[in-house]
Amino acid sequence: MKYMTAEPFRIKMVESIPKSTKAQRQEWLKEAGYNAFRLKSEQVYIDCITDSGTSAMSQEQWSALMLGDEAYAGCRSFYRLEASVHEVFGMPYVQPTHQGRAADYIMTQIYCRPGAYAIGNMHFDTFRGNAEIMGCLPVDFATDAGMDTASAPEPFKGNIDLEKMRRLIDEKGAENICVVIITITCNNNGGQPVSMENIREVSRLAGQYGIPVVMDSARLAENAWFIKTREPGYQDKSIMEITREMFSYCETATMSSKKDGLVNIGGLFVTRNKEVYEKANQLAIVHEGFITYGGMSGRDMDALAVGLREVCDEHYLEYRIGQVAYLGEKLKERGVPIIEPTGGHGVYVDGRRFFPQIPQSEFPSQRLVCALYEEAGVRCVEIGACAFGAFDKETGEPIYPAIESMRIAINRRVYTNSHMDVIANALGDIYEKRDQYRGMKIVHQGSIASLRHFTAGFELL
Ligand code: F0G
Repeated sequence: MKYMTAEPFRIKMVESIPKSTKAQRQEWLKEAGYNAFRLKSEQVYIDCITDSGTSAMSQEQWSALMLGDEAYAGCRSFYRLEASVHEVFGMPYVQPTHQGRAADYIMTQIYCRPGAYAIGNMHFDTFRGNAEIMGCLPVDFATDAGMDTASAPEPFKGNIDLEKMRRLIDEKGAENICVVIITITCNNNGGQPVSMENIREVSRLAGQYGIPVVMDSARLAENAWFIKTREPGYQDKSIMEITREMFSYCETATMSSKKDGLVNIGGLFVTRNKEVYEKANQLAIVHEGFITYGGMSGRDMDALAVGLREVCDEHYLEYRIGQVAYLGEKLKERGVPIIEPTGGHGVYVDGRRFFPQIPQSEFPSQRLVCALYEEAGVRCVEIGACAFGAFDKETGEPIYPAIESMRIAINRRVYTNSHMDVIANALGDIYEKRDQYRGMKIVHQGSIASLRHFTAGFELL
């Protein structure tokens, strides 16, 4: 297939994006309290704040929408979704939810309890928020290389450190560990994949102590692609054979289908345990909706049923992961320090190495988010001192996270490589004048510390 290296689709419908001047963007940024979440999308040229719910759907998905069955109970759309879930997850029971965090909520209610530990590679914020409200204690046990934004490239930086996991179990007692959550891919340190070997070993270790394993599987096909292309023994397996093997090692999976479901809304709670499923049904009925829709419309379930199959297409995945790698290469050519290797859904710029003069207490990655928006209208998100900062329970002193980065999340099937060039050029230009930037301070924030980045207000120093 020589020459067939371009996007494996052609564009049938377009959405215009507005342009703006630097002076306008400076004004808008100030009005937004220097928090990119508070900008209006019409003020943004290229939106890389998230890869969630922003995918372009295919013509097959748009036509599936028309087949949506909106019956309250037992709609055909649910059964079509269930069939796709069986193919991809290989697990029998599925409870739809309106998005991933609702599945997180149900999972937390079933598996977690106050004062018990939840081990993970790196827990995503919405699980952390749920855990914080319940009083459950999330701990991140990614490997040392995975926690270090400057470490050398390694194929599976999303892996869980088995030794750290074993030590906590020995120290606290297995009865005080309520669950192990493997997030695939690991969003918080670069969209880094978890190897099949690690999934298998984590599952074996947890199983020895009777601790259940859950997979947070928003980016399941991207993880499977990395296993296929980087892990010996998987080259000749299909993506669905790999996803089914991944899920064979867990009891339950949650999914935000806004990522690898290739849809704009939706979530899944999937399990092999009938009792767990029945508990999930009860929680869904109270919080989401009846068992066969769980907060989704029939048409959205139909689009998801198609999207789950499409995302496993190898030509799509090659293009998808290739586009992220393309941006990573362009940034490296300009000297911009990034987490290497690039992962599944975006490029993560190392805030500390980019702005060495700005200490973590002054939010270097948030400063970079503002600088990039101001320079080129590109909107990204901070994953660093603001999003992951915590406070010591006794002294109230701030605790700074190991990961200090700005994530450039790439929407699926939305932007072309010309957009990637704009991002790389703008960041390259900022990098050349990096000495001119100073830090920021937070002037207000919300009450749930793990979610403060969504609403915090900042000032420039
Ligand atoms: N789990 C992971 C690994 C996620 O990345 C997300 C969302 C969720 C759960 C929650 O799902 O948004 O459907 O409720 N991540 C988005 C992001 C928001 O920007 O990374 P949701």
